[in-house]
Amino acid sequence: MTKLAVIYYSSTGTNYKLAQWAKEGAEAAGAEVKLLRVAETAPQEAINENPAWAKHLEETKDIPIATNDDLEWADGFIFSVPTRFGNVPAQVKSFLDATGGLWFSGKLVNKVVSAMSSAQNSHGGQEATILNLYTTMFHWGAIVAQPGYSDPSVFGAGGNPYGTSVTVDQDGNMQEDVEDAVKHQAKRTVDIAQRINQ
Ligand SMILES: Cc1cc2nc3c(=O)[nH]c(=O)nc-3n(C[C@H](O)[C@H](O)[C@H](O)COP(=O)(O)O)c2cc1C
Repeated sequence: MTKLAVIYYSSTGTNYKLAQWAKEGAEAAGAEVKLLRVAETAPQEAINENPAWAKHLEETKDIPIATNDDLEWADGFIFSVPTRFGNVPAQVKSFLDATGGLWFSGKLVNKVVSAMSSAQNSHGGQEATILNLYTTMFHWGAIVAQPGYSDPSVFGAGGNPYGTSVTVDQDGNMQEDVEDAVKHQAKRTVDIAQRINQ
């Protein structure tokens, strides 16, 4: 059974939702899936200034926090992260920067990885965020399983070939219907991880 870790960071719930859909898609494709969140590192005062952020953090406090052991366990990963000025959130960078030991011992080589993102504007940095995340994966020696245009659902979700992405309004409502594209991406990631691990 292919083991997949769906690892997300979310301040206000969008990437949590994307990650949940990815988990469903990967399970439907026959994988054993862990849904994991990246640890929150922002000061509590900053979080409390944004009620939606504080609420989401409280609601998801029981979701296990992603660790290096999870990276070692999984055959593949799906990351879902919101844009921060076209780049990954600092919380995610911290998580990635703690993988040096795994990288040094070659344990991330041939892991299959795929990524998703969100932003408030339709051209607000979704693609750049995914590409910036993938840069780390290239250094890991991971195999990037981008969706490309491998399924009609990609076009329906706005046509991002690097990974599914979505636009959210100020109230956190998704502007595109991306559920099918997320599930396709998850299935494709599981499929490629299976082939690599045959
Ligand atoms: C510090 C910061 C920087 C952001 N930068 C951008 C940006 O450059 N472009 C954009 O469209 N949205 C930007 N956003 C909006 C977030 O990407 C958006 O709130 C997020 O995608 C929602 O995902 P979440 O609900 O999973 O947290 C930024 C938000 C924060 C807090």
